[in-house]
Amino acid sequence: MGSMPNVQVILGSVRAGRLCPKVADWVVELGRRSTTLNYELIDLADWPLPMDDEPGIPAQGIYAQAHTRAWSEKIAGGDGFIFVTPQYNWGYPAGLKNAIDHLYKEWHGKPVTIISYGGHGGSKSSSQLQQVITGLKMRPTETMPQIVLTREMINGAPVEPAAHFRPHEDSVRQALAELVALV
Ligand SMILES: Cc1cc2nc3c(=O)[nH]c(=O)nc-3n(C[C@H](O)[C@H](O)[C@H](O)COP(=O)(O)O)c2cc1C
Repeated sequence: MGSMPNVQVILGSVRAGRLCPKVADWVVELGRRSTTLNYELIDLADWPLPMDDEPGIPAQGIYAQAHTRAWSEKIAGGDGFIFVTPQYNWGYPAGLKNAIDHLYKEWHGKPVTIISYGGHGGSKSSSQLQQVITGLKMRPTETMPQIVLTREMINGAPVEPAAHFRPHEDSVRQALAELVALV
């Protein structure tokens, strides 16, 4: 890690058979080639946080549950974030909201970008999450890439990120360059 800022790449989907790791890996590969940030993948599937199980207000930073304290420690180590999120019924996944809502100060004031994906690039998911990060007073990049999935991909056809996501490379590079300027 050294002195490089640590950017945490949060996988927004925990769904069985999800595409999310392929998208996140592709983003990280591009990032490692084009920036000097350290990229740490954070898979929410490895952080099973029961739905809204903290009795206190997370913004006060007093956590009753050991898993929340561990999650807090993990996210406190992020100098910036990339949320990689699909679109589910015009929104972003409930598990991602739950993971965000378990904490507050660990996100507050930090740089962030959102990379959404879906039939129309996950634009509704991205917009909703942009409102949430505004509420958390995070510092967003101007560019928020939206990766378009074809009907075939959504229906399970194999996805080859390097080829299929090529049209989105420039916007992802741009978002990462903006993130570099913010961390
Ligand atoms: C519950 C659910 C709802 C979905 N709703 C939308 C939607 O509103 N718009 C869209 O473009 N795609 C939608 N899709 C398709 C997803 O974009 C696609 O399945 C994507 O691969 C989901 O990400 P994941 O595989 O990483 O979970 C939906 C998929 C699921 C499972």
